[in-house]
Amino acid sequence: MSKLYLVTGGAGFIGSHIATALVKRGDRVRVLDNFLTGHRHNLAHLEGQIEFIEGDIRDAETMGRVMEGVHIVFHEAAIPSVPRSVAEPRLSHEANVDGTFNVLLAAKEAGVKRLVFAASSSAYGETEVLPKRVEMYPTPLSPYAAQKLFGEFYCQVFSQVYGLETVSLRYFNVFGPRQDPSSPYSGVISKFVTALLANEPPVIFGDGEQSRDFTYIDNVVSANLLAAETSNANGTVVNVGVNDRITLNQLLAELQTILGTNLTPIYKELRAGDVRHSQADITYTEKMIGYKPVVGLREGLQRTVEWYKENQ
Ligand code: UD1
Repeated sequence: MSKLYLVTGGAGFIGSHIATALVKRGDRVRVLDNFLTGHRHNLAHLEGQIEFIEGDIRDAETMGRVMEGVHIVFHEAAIPSVPRSVAEPRLSHEANVDGTFNVLLAAKEAGVKRLVFAASSSAYGETEVLPKRVEMYPTPLSPYAAQKLFGEFYCQVFSQVYGLETVSLRYFNVFGPRQDPSSPYSGVISKFVTALLANEPPVIFGDGEQSRDFTYIDNVVSANLLAAETSNANGTVVNVGVNDRITLNQLLAELQTILGTNLTPIYKELRAGDVRHSQADITYTEKMIGYKPVVGLREGLQRTVEWYKENQ
């Protein structure tokens, strides 16, 4: 029988894209989700092609059951969002730290070969030098950043102590089709595009001169598939971005050009825990797992706008 892959958080934005890529390759896929931030409709196109289990990573018993027979785990389940972690630190800690511990322990006990962990660029906090490299000392600025960093440390410890292979991927601001714009904590690109399509002014927190390395979803899927297979990457942490950085003001201008709109944004107070600049050095990622971005920012924005036009 072919290898069984588990995607935790597989009904979420990133998890559903990983599950889709695995199904396309012909792999056997099990998905776990509790629908706290994920949605059934994200998996509608995979109906009958995956095994779905509704459950929560915070529940150790569920995790034991879900892990049976699994060869590789993509651990995407989390409560994302920097501001949500500031507003709800206990809830996000329980999902992102306790939940990750449960996933790791269950994986180790079930004899899983490798676990790929969705880590976060927020772990860096402010750095004087850009682009950001993994050897830089992490200075988390929010509960979310600290929780994701803790997850990386646990992954490394499980590699060293228990022989569970792990790779942590520090995602840099992922965007693309199926990213949910409906929460106040949704990613900025989903917010901007849906506001512009509704002819409503987008909101910018701060002066809009903060910058991000916005990373199209296909790059993240590619990094995950590589990290699952590359033999020498065990125990490592790598960046997943494109090493391209734009400010929010520039991003909004790009989107207005694509959509042919000219709306004036509303500027609001900067969010607590917000990082000023973010950009990934990806030379180490290429060396360790052979990763190269497959879709650049502009192409990614075009594809994303098309998707929201058709699906909103
Ligand atoms: C952070 C992390 C990222 C993580 C993500 C999880 C950094 C550098 N990145 O993203 O690795 O995976 O959280 O959610 O820490 N904004 C607006 N208007 C809006 C929405 C957001 O101006 O309507 C601003 C935010 O204040 C921020 C930027 O846009 O400055 C990006 O925000 P968001 O998309 O939420 O992601 P980050 O917080 O950067």
